[in-house]
Amino acid sequence: MTYTAQDYGNLIGMEGFSETLLSNHFTLYQGYVSNTNKLHELLSNKEKDATNPEYAELKRRFGFEFNGMRLHEYYFENLGGKTPLDKQGSIAKKLAEAYGSYEAWEQDFKATGAMRGIGWTILYQDNVGGWLFNQWINEHEVGHLAGCKPILVMDVFEHAFMTDYGLKRADYIAAFFKNINWSEVKSRLK
Ligand SMILES: [Fe+2]
Repeated sequence: MTYTAQDYGNLIGMEGFSETLLSNHFTLYQGYVSNTNKLHELLSNKEKDATNPEYAELKRRFGFEFNGMRLHEYYFENLGGKTPLDKQGSIAKKLAEAYGSYEAWEQDFKATGAMRGIGWTILYQDNVGGWLFNQWINEHEVGHLAGCKPILVMDVFEHAFMTDYGLKRADYIAAFFKNINWSEVKSRLK
């Protein structure tokens, strides 16, 4: 089993994101792909010995690297949109059902992303009940909702915005919203 890094070069030129920022971000993402492969190989070859701290730490680390890889794929794939959200359409309707109005959902998603700390903001859909939740993920692996599908994923690690926005995280979040690929979001939503 080997994962291959996807090419998101089509995002270069996106409004509000410099080429330097995006290129560096792609390189970081490629690091997660190669580390996921490396960890998988190391664990496959290691003696399955729970008393060996090396085995245990590699095992713990896998969630960090794998989620770092996969969340960047969700993130880059839900960017590059050129068409604003149809406020009368099915996505806006579902968000409004969950949060009272589309605007209330957007405010909550942005507030989640503006929280102190490094991680991700994810709009999840519960596979069981269909409910929608804006969730904070610490780093890459802490806070995921079991059995829920990521619908919209926003990176709020500092590397995602500092090159272009310094400490102005809210300005980055506004730029993120201008570039959401709503047709990708729609394809994820049930
Ligand atoms: Fe990132």
